[in-house]
Amino acid sequence: MSTRQWYESFRAMFTGLNRCVFLNSAGVAMVSEPVRQAVNQWADEGQCVDYDYNSIIGQAKANAAAIISGKSERIFFSRNTTHGIQTFILGYPWQKGDGVVIADSEFPANRLPWLSLRAKKGVDIKIVKSDKYKVTLDDYYHNCDKNTKVIAISWVSYLSGQKAAIAELGRFCREKNILLVVDGIQGIGAAAMDVEQMGIDWLSADGHKWMCAPEGVGLVWMSERAFNVIEPACKGWFGVVKPFDFEDFEQDYAPNADRYLDGSPMLLGIMAFNAALKMLNGFGIDKIEARVLELSSYTINEANRRGWQCLTPANPKDRAGIVTFKPTGSPANMIKTLCDNKIICSLRGGGQYIRISAHAFNNQEDIDRAFYVMDRSS
Ligand SMILES: Cc1ncc(COP(=O)(O)O)c(C=O)c1O
Repeated sequence: MSTRQWYESFRAMFTGLNRCVFLNSAGVAMVSEPVRQAVNQWADEGQCVDYDYNSIIGQAKANAAAIISGKSERIFFSRNTTHGIQTFILGYPWQKGDGVVIADSEFPANRLPWLSLRAKKGVDIKIVKSDKYKVTLDDYYHNCDKNTKVIAISWVSYLSGQKAAIAELGRFCREKNILLVVDGIQGIGAAAMDVEQMGIDWLSADGHKWMCAPEGVGLVWMSERAFNVIEPACKGWFGVVKPFDFEDFEQDYAPNADRYLDGSPMLLGIMAFNAALKMLNGFGIDKIEARVLELSSYTINEANRRGWQCLTPANPKDRAGIVTFKPTGSPANMIKTLCDNKIICSLRGGGQYIRISAHAFNNQEDIDRAFYVMDRSS
């Protein structure tokens, strides 16, 4: 298949592109045909089939494992990114004075749960100060001391679009015996990930952005050392060895990451998530990443050409699909005009910045249309 054919067939998965210019994959994902079919299948079957949970969840785990290059047995499906992070927090054996390092530029999902540990457990939360929503690894290193137990960071910043050098941070964390918690939502599905090679200990991401799934189902992957430290927050009936043995109350926790589950999983969401992941794996995450970077470079050039201050790093190795810039006109007016023209982007940074997030199904014409409208908006 030529690059052009590959691209056209990926774009054809998203029929909603006939109704709007969608440049908001960092917001909530556009629905794809495989996802629509999975949701319809669930509705059509209407519980008239006996769902094999093991097989459905097993397939979804295999596809989730493939997209992050991890092992299925270290994956469970969460309710969202926050829930995945919260599972870590609830299961960690905190001692008063333990330290956690996070940045002031994190999305609340990776900020609020940590901050709450100050009052609840006496944990020392050190805050890395970002510069225009960007951070350096040195900023993290300088905030660590002998009490630091965890560094929590976004792989890709929802605001600046900066992609953190996780593998380097992972090496530092291993040396210092610190657990590395990563919010992966703004990168997975847009960029290739190898959780083992990156030295991640706990990865949490809802599926509803670059992974093209609906909201409310996420993936969590953990390293062996995190698996050995993090206790399940509760003993849920879906988190034991034989969930469908309703008579055995002496059962142990599941031997794999399922031990972190509580009650009934969101099967519809997992079916939809699986459809989206299968589609992405089928099209190839490396090809998707190359296309995403091509489009983010194009967007940065268009913003630079107008003299609009771009927050997003110019070097492709330091970004994925998010591009954020400050236009000379009013960002709020621009977003309204874009929306009136059925061009979907986001306003971020307290209304100062426009964020364009183009997935591999977008093209340069989508981006040109956005700039054309912004140029004409005051
Ligand atoms: C970096 C980041 N983390 C997390 C989320 C969402 O968190 P949750 O899945 O808990 O709703 C978002 C955006 O909504 C985000 O940009």
